[in-house]
Amino acid sequence: MTHNATVPNPKMPTLCPTQSALRQALRGRGVIGFVPTMGNLHDGHIQLMRMARERADCVVASVFVNRLQFAPHEDFDRYPRTLARDCELMATAGVDYVFCPTETELYPEPQTCLVDPGPLATLHEGEFRTGFFRGVATVVSKLFHIVSPDFAIFGKKDYQQLQVIRHMVRQLAMPIEIVAAETARAEDGLALSSRNGYLSPSERAEAPRLYRLLSTLAAQLQSGHHELWQLETDAMATLAAHGWRPDYVRIRRQSDLQPATEACQDLVILSAAHLGSTRLIDNLEVQRPAR
Ligand code: PAJ
Repeated sequence: MTHNATVPNPKMPTLCPTQSALRQALRGRGVIGFVPTMGNLHDGHIQLMRMARERADCVVASVFVNRLQFAPHEDFDRYPRTLARDCELMATAGVDYVFCPTETELYPEPQTCLVDPGPLATLHEGEFRTGFFRGVATVVSKLFHIVSPDFAIFGKKDYQQLQVIRHMVRQLAMPIEIVAAETARAEDGLALSSRNGYLSPSERAEAPRLYRLLSTLAAQLQSGHHELWQLETDAMATLAAHGWRPDYVRIRRQSDLQPATEACQDLVILSAAHLGSTRLIDNLEVQRPAR
């Protein structure tokens, strides 16, 4: 990494709360790298921004809690908004501009024109969060039009989201390269997430079980287990036995998140489970041996 917190007084990014201010600032700025976020930043987000810094002349991040991707019963209102602290972190990552629109700036009228990503969006997360990926695809497409980046970086932590965005960009011929970043984890394996802050101390101690389980499944797949359904069912039972309410643990092929054929070696284990009132997701890519 070429950028780190040892830089004495890293330069604070310029805040652009309006589309016109941002468009003006970005004119003639060379290669633009973009990292969309909902704020409450952690090292996972910062890693994406550092990757962007290494590849771009100008790094833009957005901070916007997108109401469109939250169901009415979800945590839109309590989602943490911490812009001042986020800006300090973004300064250490070398972010040049932060697009931080108000809701009325981004949605001045009811957003009736929506991006439907198709069947991929109805699987897995889409099955448990109806309309979620339509909300994500709509805001990301809108942000892409405003920022007009050369590339944008997304985390593998939200594996299905990454695939949905790739699919959207391909199908709608958006001239933007989508770059994937590995999942940043705490030392005990828990994937970093803004929602980890909702966990009580005892839940936080239990939470790494999800990643441990995925790692065990990955090892089983690598050593030749091929009863995928059995592995999934056992993993769900293990979570339930430790007080979780699992939504799914599924082993799928990476490319389209559909069930894997016997010949398919590039797999991903996708999971989502509730721990108390917090819903956590995690996933792990795994290469299984040829049969
Ligand atoms: P948010 O959850 O803030 O995540 C912003 C980006 O950071 C996403 O690309 C996400 O995959 C990545 N990220 C989060 N945790 C990570 C981790 N532990 N390791 C690596 N990357 C991580 O995802 C969203 O916001 C929204 O849906 C958004 C795309 C901004 C649209 O509103």
